[in-house]
Amino acid sequence: MKTPATHREIILQTIGFVKSELQSAEGGHDWWHIERVWKNAVAIAKSEAVDLFVVELGALLHDIADSKFHHGDETIGVQKARAFLEGLYVEESVIGHVCEIISNISFKGGNFTRAFYSPELAVVQDADRLDAIGAIGIARAFNYGGFKGRAMYDPAVKPMTGMTKEQYKNSTAPTVNHFYEKLLLLKDRMNTETGRKMAQRRHLFMEQYLEQFFMEWEGADSA
Ligand code: ADP
Ligand code: NI
Repeated sequence: MKTPATHREIILQTIGFVKSELQSAEGGHDWWHIERVWKNAVAIAKSEAVDLFVVELGALLHDIADSKFHHGDETIGVQKARAFLEGLYVEESVIGHVCEIISNISFKGGNFTRAFYSPELAVVQDADRLDAIGAIGIARAFNYGGFKGRAMYDPAVKPMTGMTKEQYKNSTAPTVNHFYEKLLLLKDRMNTETGRKMAQRRHLFMEQYLEQFFMEWEGADSA
């Protein structure tokens, strides 16, 4: 009789699955994003009372089918993750929890009450948010903007805060606006102490970056 797979074996199989699913993903939502989020999640989890297996699976599977790249369909990611984990005979309580993490991790404007909360979601969400800010966050934002054919910056288009989920999803604003609409808001929305500390340095770097960006935009560094 076949013995059930160990947690480590399941993690390794999940890595293989995610890598193949995200083969042609946009550079900001590819395997390397997942790997960074996974590593940060494991690091943050060290100071939290969480089920590490759920945290790792949640981090690895959180962007398996982002609705942004699937015509707004928010159910595909959960379906894919569930089918994959069921195929490995992972216990239902773990599958259900991982699916809740996938459904509830996203920012989408941040102006709605979240339907689910757990310490494991808190850790994975912090890890995902850290990858949206700092040097990597800047690179990801411009890569995504390029992928979508957006302008980098347009002084005539002012940032909109307090957007509804629909407005946020349908926004076609220049990439620099995204800093004001999301990226600079994240440091005050971290769930864990470790996440908050890591976010501070990354946040500062973004502020300095924007200061330099506008200085160069104006040519104010010519003197
Ligand atoms: P979530 O998946 O948490 O809802 P988003 O959909 O806002 O988060 O996007 C995840 C990442 O994709 C962002 O951190 C950013 O790097 C990039 N991104 C998303 N929307 C935009 C945008 N309008 N302009 C630039 N980058 C974006
Ligand atoms: Ni992500």
